[in-house]
Amino acid sequence: MHNPPISLLPHHVAIVMDGNGRWAQKRWLPRVAGHKQGVDALRGVVQACVERGIRVLTVFAFSSENWNRPVEEVSGLMDLLALALSREVPRLLDNGVRLHFPGDRSRLSSKLAQSLAAAEQATAAQDRLVLNVCFNYGGRWDMAQAARRLAERGEPITEESLSGAMALAHVPDPDLLIRTGGEQRISNFLLWQAAYSELVFTDCLWPDFDAAELDKALNEFARRERRFGQTSEQRAQATVSALGADAPHA
Ligand code: IPE
Ligand code: IPE
Ligand code: MG
Repeated sequence: MHNPPISLLPHHVAIVMDGNGRWAQKRWLPRVAGHKQGVDALRGVVQACVERGIRVLTVFAFSSENWNRPVEEVSGLMDLLALALSREVPRLLDNGVRLHFPGDRSRLSSKLAQSLAAAEQATAAQDRLVLNVCFNYGGRWDMAQAARRLAERGEPITEESLSGAMALAHVPDPDLLIRTGGEQRISNFLLWQAAYSELVFTDCLWPDFDAAELDKALNEFARRERRFGQTSEQRAQATVSALGADAPHA
């Protein structure tokens, strides 16, 4: 396996934005008020990622299983995505953010699916941060759709070809995966791509997650030793070699 270089700052951060409902319930507000506040939190975290030089941010906004929630909540989440798109795209353009919406669009209204495609197109030339908003996404859906595409094209199924057919083929795998809201599970997020991601779980509810909380997770990441199946000694040697390669030659 290819061993990525050692870096203290993750190139790609993924987040399961969980805890919106509890944030709202604690305040006797409807759950959708928590989701609204969650959009504000995301705006701040996108800005913080741009400022810190993180190149890819992938967030879980609606899972394949979230259709099982009460209909009012599901339609509230659909409306909120449409509203956020119409409001946020100018600011994202100013920040150099390129949008992608990995997920199954076949179950979304054609109007919403069109807005997603339009936002992707409008931001396609931006290159400071790739923001993947996973919507109607599931890790199992992703693996199945990738395998189906390869089978349709009659291509062999290998780790490389599957990776290349998945919904996040345009970015390297996440280095750091954060879950807010206190649960310690993946909930069908990036099952394939998170194979070697460092996992950080925090009790902080997503609407309360800000730049300071992000920095806590980044500090935790910087303390981890990523071994990719190797030994600690091999990784230390790789660091020395990488530093040597960077040193100016006399
Ligand atoms: C995460 O917050 C957002 C979505 C799943 C859409 P939740 O709505 O799951 O919040 P809790 O877990 O109920 O607090
Ligand atoms: C995961 O949160 C999905 C998103 C954050 C979009 P859930 O709240 O749906 O996960 P479970 O049901 O607690 O596992
Ligand atoms: Mg939840």
